[in-house]
Amino acid sequence: MAQVEQFAAPGSEWWRTAVIYQIYPRSFADASGDGIGDLPGITARLDDLHALGVDAIWLSPFMTSPQKDAGYDVADYRDVDPIFGTLADFDEMLAQAHARGIRVIVDLVPNHSSDQHVWFQQALKAAPGSPERARYIFRDGRGENGDLPPNNWESVFGGGQWTRTTNPDGTPGQWYLHIFDPTQPDFDWTNEEVREEFRSILRFWLDRGVDGFRVDVAHGMVKAEGLPDYTPPIEADSMGGGEENVPYWGQDGVHDIYRDWHKLLAEYDGDRALCGEAWLPTLAKTALWVRPGEMHQTFNFPYLMTAWDAEALRGVIRDSLDAFGGVGAPSTWVLSNHDVVRHASRLALTADNPQGEGIGPLSPGKPDQTIGLARGRAATTLMLALPGSSYLYQGEELGLPEAMEIPDEFRQDPTWFRTNGERYGRDGCRVPLPWSAEAPAYGFNTTGASWLPQPAEWAGFARDVEEADAESTLNLYKRLLAERRERGLGGGSLVWEDAGSDAVAFRRGDLHVVANLGETPIELGGNVSFVIQSQRFSGTALPPNTAAWFTRA
Ligand code: GLC
Repeated sequence: MAQVEQFAAPGSEWWRTAVIYQIYPRSFADASGDGIGDLPGITARLDDLHALGVDAIWLSPFMTSPQKDAGYDVADYRDVDPIFGTLADFDEMLAQAHARGIRVIVDLVPNHSSDQHVWFQQALKAAPGSPERARYIFRDGRGENGDLPPNNWESVFGGGQWTRTTNPDGTPGQWYLHIFDPTQPDFDWTNEEVREEFRSILRFWLDRGVDGFRVDVAHGMVKAEGLPDYTPPIEADSMGGGEENVPYWGQDGVHDIYRDWHKLLAEYDGDRALCGEAWLPTLAKTALWVRPGEMHQTFNFPYLMTAWDAEALRGVIRDSLDAFGGVGAPSTWVLSNHDVVRHASRLALTADNPQGEGIGPLSPGKPDQTIGLARGRAATTLMLALPGSSYLYQGEELGLPEAMEIPDEFRQDPTWFRTNGERYGRDGCRVPLPWSAEAPAYGFNTTGASWLPQPAEWAGFARDVEEADAESTLNLYKRLLAERRERGLGGGSLVWEDAGSDAVAFRRGDLHVVANLGETPIELGGNVSFVIQSQRFSGTALPPNTAAWFTRA
């Protein structure tokens, strides 16, 4: 018997059903020609995003930053870094996006600042126990002379989470905590002054007109009382997705902060929204992030991390709809972002690849690109038929693979340096986009400069080439987004169907959706009228690594 999954009572809020396109500003489009993308570059390309058919864009950080972690190390939360432009450029980009009906979400990085933030610089100069130090997490070291870090926590980027300071007189001083790089000291969120500062930062951007925030490391902001030692399992995902009871991930205290922010956003008109980056072990726990009065959305990382396996995929979709529906929130769906291997490569990996590992010249189990692209297109075809809100990551609409051959000397991810090259990190999904096959830097700019080298085969993925090819990934995405909008697939309910153990199959009204994750074709039967095929095939047998939307006469 068909099982009906009810989607959470759909309100009219845009974020319940939106397709949100992530822009990684340094790699999107470069108007200045210095090799790093910028805000005027985004403004110049908004027509392309409008033509693609997305509802909103989310911009990774463009605030003032020494760029030690590609902008996720903010030195001034209320200004634009000169490499990306000015506040006036931001206002122009926002106005132009809104004029096209595209909402704009910005990245908020509240777990940590840059070590160049004025508060951290003041803290370094101030004495232990001072109010300046109380904005961050400073502690005395362990051992006789305080030579040992205060606990054993391991940084997401490799190495320890503590760095020792030097006193003004040159003697070794206290230690400070950083879940990420030493240049990213963690704030102490038990401090009311920190809370008040972030309320003011939220208002700064809300007053400018942003539609919401993607909240960076939302699951890390509160640490367990007493900072107890913790040793992760050897093969752990670095962002903590797989484990329970980690003293720096998913602590209950974070919910107070979200409730506070929810109230603040509700003072503004226009359904402003919060989307949390929370890598948590279960969907049930993830759903706690989006209870009424907390965040509006959270990323569905269990979905992203699901391998190309029909049973697992059916399970995670079912569990997502149940868990999020259970608290009245939309489920979200995401396959790629700036921290994971691009899904057109990831879905064809044949060896384990924990988050943060990346793929480089010496990686085991490298993906077959043809299979990867077929699976990537099928996965997106399935995802965009699901009820709820979907996130796309720039370049996936071109079917871009992970860049797997970046020469070592170009690598920039702190993960690569902190692990002495043991983990390639995330540069492979961050390479600047190809816009036109014949232009310098494939049209990323007009000078040919590019902060990471673009693979030669990317000419074939350039937007102008794909525009002209009816069967391209770009035109597939356009068809999917147009049909999704037309049919209102972001809302409503899903009815499971049975197309065999290798399939994920469901119905949305009269639209049938089937993906074949197995190795043999699946016969769909008679009277099939195809609406969309993830790659062109004839007849009614759905090939392996393919998905289709169809109706039955
Ligand atoms: C988030 C970002 C990632 C960054 C980290 C530290 O996970 O997505 O890119 O490195 O936070 O801010």
